Amino acid sequence: MKKCLVLTTLCMLLVPALSMAQLTYQKDVRPIMEAKCSNCHGPQTPLVDEFKKDKDKFVKQNKGPRMDSYSLLLEFVKGKDAGAIMRRLDDGKSKDDKKPGNMYIYLGKDEEERQKNLKVFKEWVGSWNLKRKADLTPEESKKVTAPQ
Ligand code: HEC
Repeated sequence: MKKCLVLTTLCMLLVPALSMAQLTYQKDVRPIMEAKCSNCHGPQTPLVDEFKKDKDKFVKQNKGPRMDSYSLLLEFVKGKDAGAIMRRLDDGKSKDDKKPGNMYIYLGKDEEERQKNLKVFKEWVGSWNLKRKADLTPEESKKVTAPQ
């Protein structure tokens, strides 16, 4: 009987701990990027500097800047283009104009899947801050975690 109680208690402690396990790029974000974004941000696409030099041409070919690795993607989360992922994937619900970012639509085939995948990105990023690099305070920057 006592053993049973100990086991039950252990389980009750473990279950929330497991469900709160930290999201990572490799485990949670990469599969979404591969399924939903790689057609236009995969290995066939230009690195961001090259992309910026000839943006119109690449956009016409449905190519965005390349994001198919952790370090490439991180530039758009907390690097040079900090907040780009957040601005583009945001669903607009907490913004005054309610306009979603223009990549939100690619997160899923319907609203349910888009919301589910947005939640993964939000939890992974840690702090869903839409600001650009120059407007971020060091404290705000630190809260953006996005672990590998
Ligand atoms: C059908 C093609 C297509 C798909 C699918 C797509 N994108 Fe894009 N994306 C583009 C193009 C083209 C641009 C550049 C034009 C623009 O800025 O809107 C872009 C721009 C971006 C930018 C801005 C980059 C910068 O210059 O700062 C981000 C961030 C982004 N996409 C993220 C994503 C994510 C995440 C997904 C998957 C959920 C995704 N995109 C799916 C075509 C696509």
